[in-house]
Amino acid sequence: MSDPLTPYGNKPMVTPIVNAVNYEYRDFEVLRRITDGEIDGYTYHRDDNPTVRAVEDKIAELERSEDCIVCTSGMAACTLVYLSYLKAGDNLILFHDIYGAHYKVSLILERLGVEVTWLNADESAELERYVKPNTAMIFLESPSNPLCKVIDIPEARRAADKSGARLIVDNTFATPYHQNPLELGAHLVVHSATKALGGHNDLMAGAIAGSKEDYNTLWFTRQAVGCTLDAYSASLLERGLKTFELRAERMASNGMAVAEFLKTKSSISELFYPGLSDHPGHAVAKRQMRGGFGGMLSFNVGQTQEDAKKFISSLKVIKHAVSLGATESLICIPYLTTMLYLPPERRLSFGVCDNTVRLSMGVEKPEALIGDLEQALKFL
Ligand SMILES: Cc1ncc(COP(=O)(O)O)c(C=O)c1O
Repeated sequence: MSDPLTPYGNKPMVTPIVNAVNYEYRDFEVLRRITDGEIDGYTYHRDDNPTVRAVEDKIAELERSEDCIVCTSGMAACTLVYLSYLKAGDNLILFHDIYGAHYKVSLILERLGVEVTWLNADESAELERYVKPNTAMIFLESPSNPLCKVIDIPEARRAADKSGARLIVDNTFATPYHQNPLELGAHLVVHSATKALGGHNDLMAGAIAGSKEDYNTLWFTRQAVGCTLDAYSASLLERGLKTFELRAERMASNGMAVAEFLKTKSSISELFYPGLSDHPGHAVAKRQMRGGFGGMLSFNVGQTQEDAKKFISSLKVIKHAVSLGATESLICIPYLTTMLYLPPERRLSFGVCDNTVRLSMGVEKPEALIGDLEQALKFL
């Protein structure tokens, strides 16, 4: 019987959404060859899915990696990495300026016997000093969420090599359009594909790019815990990836234009964008990023949280919402959203103030965004 999808050999332009949970085996020999890893084949959705596999190939290409594994969210991806490579007694180095949910995961890891060291990203130049014989992993974001701090990835790799630790870089803020951490020395790259890779606020997914050997290790954990992405979300992600580079380019040019504009405003007391020459991480960002500095920026607006709320409530084009990397520009107060679960003194200690706002550029025209910011700043 001919393949119902390609009866005359014509291939569909889009990877079909295969919703099947399980597959009918042709014979026992095929089953054996699949389970022994001799051939690519599908048996059960928790193991693998062809729509998911197609998107894994595309992300691997973007991250210039041997392979990639996709799962249900960015935090699922981070957790797969922790569960696959850490054990009781290991030391994990994390940075305060990192997506807030890592704080919660760190509490779980500590319960399981992992020792966690939290560093300020400003201390990253001295990272090697904090690496101990039992340091098994260093996990960082560059630029970081939300303060866009920049960490020198090759330097971090040198520090990791001191104890043979794995260096993991969350590349969600930078995106593979601007930065490929594997080429800079990272062992693995993690993404919240919910963000710029998907790009349309309509799917949740995570991705980990690395070697074939890492794929096999992570595949084992994903299969065990059961967080394989569903085929429909994989198809949306594949669709998002088709315009990823175009969107990333516009987000970065909007980021630069908006940063230049905000720099001139007296009601903005601190402005964090790695593309600005006076950003402390600019020189490193210039070295390890290309084609711009991404579409994420943060700033302190007015003096108080009430000022920040008034400013956000006055915006008309830019939407007040969490998440980032979407076609729409999004703004939020990290103190009240992504960093909410951190003890307040902790948020303040590394620079997330109650009037700090995080802005994610969309693909709107720069004039529309600057005009919107200008009219909202008048309300302060
Ligand atoms: C840098 C970064 N990493 C990871 C995550 C977690 O991703 P998800 O929300 O898809 O679980 C986020 C979410 O905002 C993020 O900003």
